[in-house]
Amino acid sequence: MGYNNSVYKKIYEEYSQKYLIARQRADDRARELRSVIPELARLDKELSLVGIEILQASLSGGDTMSKIAQIREKNEALQAKRGALLEAYGYPADYSDVKYECAACCDTGFIENTMCSCMREALVLAGIENSGFASLIREQSFDNFSLDYYKKSPAHLDRMTWNRDFLIRYADTFDVRTSPSILMMGGTGLGKTHLSSAVARRVIERGSDVFYTGAIDLFSQFETQRFKTYTNEPNELIERYFECDLLIIDDLGTEIINQFTVSTLYNLLNDRLSRKKPTIISTNLSKDDIQKKYTDRITSRMFGEYQVLFFMGTDVRAQKLMKR
Ligand SMILES: Nc1ncnc2c1ncn2[C@@H]1O[C@H](COP(=O)(O)OP(=O)(O)O)[C@@H](O)[C@H]1O
Ligand SMILES: [Mg+2]
Ligand SMILES: [Zn+2]
Repeated sequence: MGYNNSVYKKIYEEYSQKYLIARQRADDRARELRSVIPELARLDKELSLVGIEILQASLSGGDTMSKIAQIREKNEALQAKRGALLEAYGYPADYSDVKYECAACCDTGFIENTMCSCMREALVLAGIENSGFASLIREQSFDNFSLDYYKKSPAHLDRMTWNRDFLIRYADTFDVRTSPSILMMGGTGLGKTHLSSAVARRVIERGSDVFYTGAIDLFSQFETQRFKTYTNEPNELIERYFECDLLIIDDLGTEIINQFTVSTLYNLLNDRLSRKKPTIISTNLSKDDIQKKYTDRITSRMFGEYQVLFFMGTDVRAQKLMKR
């Protein structure tokens, strides 16, 4: 699984804290109770002795089962008495119990070495926050991607149905070592970014690290880093472009293109291809434009090794405006 390291570390630390805080709060409440209810101290002492008795019984040999059953009964009776006492003072019977957010894993995040679903959910949410386009991921999903917008032309509808189904399968079976890279081509407003978000969400849910960037931001990051190289500081953002499980580069071709951006793009795409890390690129450019702007080296790698998806139809954003 490719959870992003810093996300994983953050959540892991949150969990260690959560567990401690829950226990601390229970201790505080127990202290409060003891100060208000004088009889409680003696009862709690008895209860702690029962714990020791159980331990002794289980080590003593002989008919341990019936001995332990007896002690258990005693324990339950004491617990009931304790509950009644608290209630008599106006507290809920379980007032000083430890209250974990997740009863299944007691806020440790793990149940016998397997990750608890609560921690997996926390990792997914953090992964979305950390993806670079959290707000889009929350809004644009496969569920609210409608094929109705492509119905005017059967050919467009066919093509877009195929694209959508391909991407659903892609997301549902995403594997950083085997999934191909994808090039989405087509005009503005045809759903390239929408479907990228939908893919991103599912892939994050499956436990992989997804990072989204617009082409303009990507190159300006590299540009900034270029003039900082003398500091030799590793740049986390730049590393992320290379290391994330799925990199999404949106709107390729909107950036200013020069020798630096071309070689940067080549290095990045080449590095990811050679390490079999998938990339999704979307662009409004035609194949000819790409060839002219980015050299044959890049074009042949993209068209040779990426799965190319052609987006067709009429600008969905405009269609939505017309309907209003
Ligand atoms: N098939 C669709 N169903 C619903 N909304 C869509 C669809 N395609 C695009 N949209 C919406 O239209 C707008 C433009 O789509 P977008 O994915 O950004 O287009 P592109 O990236 O191809 O330029 C977005 O708000 C998106 O959610
Ligand atoms: Mg877009
Ligand atoms: Zn849990």
